[in-house]
Parts: sequence; structure tokens; C-alpha cells
Amino acid sequence: MCGIVGYIGHRDAYPIIIKGLQRLEYRGYDSAGVALYNEESKRIFTVKTKGKVQDLIDKVELNGSPFTNLGMGHTRWASHGEPNDVNSHPHLSNSGNLAIIHNGIIENYEALKTMLKQEGFTFKSDTDTEVLVNFIEYVQQKENVKLGKAVQLALNQVVGAYAIVIFDVSNPDEIVLARLGSPLAIGVGDDEYFIASDATPFIDYTKDAIYLEDEEMAIIKRGTAIQIRKIGDDSIITPNVQELEFSLEQIEKGGYEHFMLKEIFEQPNAIQDTFRGRLLADKGIIRMAGVDDNIDRFLNAKRILIIGCGTSWHAGLVAEYIIEDLARIPVEVEYASEFRYRNPIINKDDIVIAISQSGETADTLAAIKLAKANGAFVFGVCNVVGSSIARETDAGAFTHAGPEIGVASTKAFTTQITVLVLLALRLGKEKGVINTTDYYKYLYEMMAIPDKIAEVLESNAFLEEIAAIYKDATNFLYLGRGYNFPVALEGALKLKEISYIHAEGYPAAEMKHGPIALIDEQMPIVVIATRKGHYDKVVSNIQEIKSRKGKIIAVVMKGDTIVKNIADHTIEIPETFEALTPLLTTIPLQLLSYYIAIMRDCNVDQPRNLAKSVTIE
Ligand code: F6R
Repeated sequence: MCGIVGYIGHRDAYPIIIKGLQRLEYRGYDSAGVALYNEESKRIFTVKTKGKVQDLIDKVELNGSPFTNLGMGHTRWASHGEPNDVNSHPHLSNSGNLAIIHNGIIENYEALKTMLKQEGFTFKSDTDTEVLVNFIEYVQQKENVKLGKAVQLALNQVVGAYAIVIFDVSNPDEIVLARLGSPLAIGVGDDEYFIASDATPFIDYTKDAIYLEDEEMAIIKRGTAIQIRKIGDDSIITPNVQELEFSLEQIEKGGYEHFMLKEIFEQPNAIQDTFRGRLLADKGIIRMAGVDDNIDRFLNAKRILIIGCGTSWHAGLVAEYIIEDLARIPVEVEYASEFRYRNPIINKDDIVIAISQSGETADTLAAIKLAKANGAFVFGVCNVVGSSIARETDAGAFTHAGPEIGVASTKAFTTQITVLVLLALRLGKEKGVINTTDYYKYLYEMMAIPDKIAEVLESNAFLEEIAAIYKDATNFLYLGRGYNFPVALEGALKLKEISYIHAEGYPAAEMKHGPIALIDEQMPIVVIATRKGHYDKVVSNIQEIKSRKGKIIAVVMKGDTIVKNIADHTIEIPETFEALTPLLTTIPLQLLSYYIAIMRDCNVDQPRNLAKSVTIE
């Protein structure tokens, strides 16, 4: 996620901003930049670069930063436009008077850009942010209003999510900020204000902070009190100044003990971000540029081949069920590492979908090259914009999950599934496999998923209790059927990689072909038994386990009574369509692994022998 730092006061802003950006490095980013008000020239001094904050410092030092007590800095995690110097923030308006930094996504930026071009505006970058700053300038000129009013009027016409900081050289005693869906904190000092995505950049200077709420904006004027307003109706809000009690490390992890836990809890928001601008349920629209531009290829595809590794491969397995079910296109899923080293049959009218969080996995990258060399069209599902896989694929859809720092994939998995469900629904609708009524039902149910995940997350404390009971087990079995078979594999992988307990995932019906021999009173078995998808058969499997004294941890749907009576522990998920259950059933499995691992004193964010990005074979 991008990082924001701003300063207005009496000190030299540049060192404060740079230190702040360094503090925000933990969030992950691909480029960095600063915009400083130069009092001598009365212009904005901007330096931006792809790469690290240190690269930015080196570049600024070459140019020599002016003394300034008004400025802003940004670390960018690309969402629109690849990571490069031009796309980095801050962005200036056409007149050069306004400088902006922005986190989030402006969904209607293309329509605004078209309008602005007609009005004579030009653009240097591919970003939605440059559109926003010019739109604010356009409103400012058209309505002849001050910056604060222009920001407010413009934001009322913007669709999307944002945290922005903006200033105007013609009024260097003022800085304006606004938020909707992306955090912004204001550090209140003595005649000075610090602005940042979270409090880490200013904790050394002040312990007094105001957290801007969604749909609020703040106008900070030198020498006067801060003014906070509602963006929508202009009402004034009394600032709520809170005393910071967190340590630096706690703030970086959003108050969570580990990045993994933070990322598990981020899933409702991450999935909203995956939907953003793509899923318009009221209009019955699923919009994904990479699919829209290649729709005929998708509709004429004889087969879809999905490749990936680890968790991404599991997301591919879920997609196999979903795409075959909802769009009736044959799907094959393969480990990228196997695919690349055999002699696979790849036809020109096959579509290859490559799934990768990092976009750098060497095996997946090599498999993509092989598929392309054989004439296939390759579609990427990646999280990291500008990554090698994102660049190598012919088209794709980003998951927009934000940086995943914990080595064990969590939000990457659920957002990958989200993209693939959208793809399946879009294709199913176009091919006439899903009727309009069912299609709409799916769209609305998808919209409800983030809240349902939030509900599942409420079982957190209960999962901690279950973890305490089984933390010393030496083996675990995970069982699921249909859509939840890949979830069983994913649950087992999560436990293995962070707690070092041996775990295996199986389709529940396969138990009788071997794994049942392992079951005794020492063996915990996690069973996904949603009331959909072969429920009766899974219940029989649970009874077979019970009669062999295995310990059953069951994930069931709300209101289940049958499994509840047999299992040792049951975790409920809300009712949803079968195809969407993996988005909910995965969550308790992630939490169970997390708690078992910390109870075993394992380093959950950096498990032994594992790397976040596997760039070697
Ligand atoms: C598991 C995990 C790995 C990755 C795999 C692929 O939690 O993180 O199994 O899923 O290394 O990585 P990406 O998705 O970056 O290609």
C-alpha cells in the first residue's frame, strides 16, 4: 500500500518527509517521490524515482533540495500504470500550481480524463492521480474557488477510494487533505502539522494525532486551527485529538502482533479493492479491461490452462471448479514447475492463466514463456503491478490486495479467487450459461462477501482456543470436497509452512483409499462441511473419523446441527453460494494455522527456509 507523508510548519520539511517515507517502507512500494514548495522560485520542486527511498535521496542530493516548510512525499505501490519515474507521485497539475499525492483508486478516471482532454488538459503519466489533480485544477479555475472548495467539489464527482494531500503554490500557507477508504492521520505539533498514512512518520515529533474519518477533509492553515469538514455536505467536524499510545512497531503492523494476522484481517477490504470499478452489481456489469479487450478469445477458447505455484496453484484449483461450473469451459490446472519441464500440448486457441502474488516466481515465469512460445494467449492474475509476470503476460487483471508482507499467502489467495470468480461470471453470462436472474444473484452475493468474511473473522478468539488444544499435534489432516477440496490443500499448506507441523489435504472421499489408516485419537482432522456440495457424503466421512477416535474440527454453515453433534469443535460461516464458499471457509483455516504457529513460538511472518518471492527454480 502506498505511503503518504506531508508537513506544514516552521521546520525544514524535507528531512521530516524523508524520514517519514523511510518509516513507511514496511508497507511495500515500488517508487518514491517528494514535492517541496520552493520559497525563492515560488514553484514546486519535485523529484520522483522508481526504486527505493534511498534512490530518491540520491536523486534529490544531485539537484539540491531547497529549504521549505511545506511539502509532501509518497511511496507508491502501483495500481494504474507501471512503476516508473513518471507514474510516481507527487503529480503536478497542468499549470504546475498544484501538487498531489494519492493512495487508492479513482474508478471513473477514464471518463474524467476524456473530459479534461476535451478541455485542453494534457497528461504525462498513466495514472488516475494525475487525472485527479487536473480535475481539481479544472474545478478551481471554472468555479473560481480556493483550493479547499475545489477539492470538495471535485471529490463529490469522483467515484473510488482515496487519501489525498494537495497544496497550491499560490497559497503556500495551506495544505488540504481528504479521505475515503484509505487511512490518513494528522500529527498535531506546536504550530506545525504532520500528515501521514499512519502515525509512524511523526511519532518522534508529537503524540497528538487526529485520524481523519471516511468522507472527511481537512484544511490546515499555518497559524490557525485545523478545520475538518464533511466532503459531502460541508458540515464542520470538531477534531478529535487522540494521544498515541502505540509503539512504532505496533503502528507498522496496524496494532496486530504480526503482518500475517493483519493481512488475514485485511481481507474484507482487500476484496472490496479487488471489486472496485469492476463489479457494478446494480447495472449487472463486470468490467475488467484485460478481459474486455480480449473477450472473443475467451469466448472462443477451447480450453483454459491454469498455472501457478503453492497457494496460487490452489487458487487455480478453485478456479477450475468455478470456471467449468459457471462458464462451461474445460479447465486444466498444473504446477508451473511441472508444466515448464514436460512437453505440454498447447494449442493456439488455448488460454493460459498464470496466477502469482509476487509476479516474480521463476517457475511460473518460465511456464508463461513456454506457453507464449507455443502461441498461447497468456492472461496474468498478479498482485504486484510492474512485476515480471505482469509484464510478460499478454493481458491480465491485478488483484489489488495491497502488499503482502507475511511470507504465508492469505489475502493474495482470496483476492485471486475473487478475480477468477468475476472472470467466470463474466464468461458464463456472455456464453449464456448463467441466466440473468442467477447472474444478478451472484453479483449481489459477491458484494456481500466482504461483510461475510468480517463475520467469520469474529471466530478469531474461538480459533485461538482450538489452537491451544492441538498445538502439540505432530500431524494434521484436512478434508474437503468439491470447491473446498483446494481449500483443504491450502489449509494444510498454511499449517505446514508456519508451524512446521506435518499436514496433508485430501478430497474427503479419498480418505478411505489410504489416509484413514492414519486416524487415531492423536490425529486432529479439519473437515470443511458446508451444507452445500455433497454434504451427506462429508457427514459420513466425519462419522468414519469419529468411530476411529480422530478429533474433528469442522467448518460448517450457520445453523448446522448434524455435524455440530458429531464434531469436537465447529466453526460457523454464513450461508453463501457453493462456488463462493472457499472465500469464507479459508479464513478459519488461516487463523488456526496462525495461532498454532505462534503458540509453538514460530516466526510466522518469516518462516524458516521460505522466501516471499521464489525467483529461483
Ligand atoms: C504459501 C506461499 C507460496 C506461494 C508460492 C507462489 O503461503 O506463499 O506457496 O504461493 O511461492 O508465489 P507467487 O504467488 O508469488 O507466485
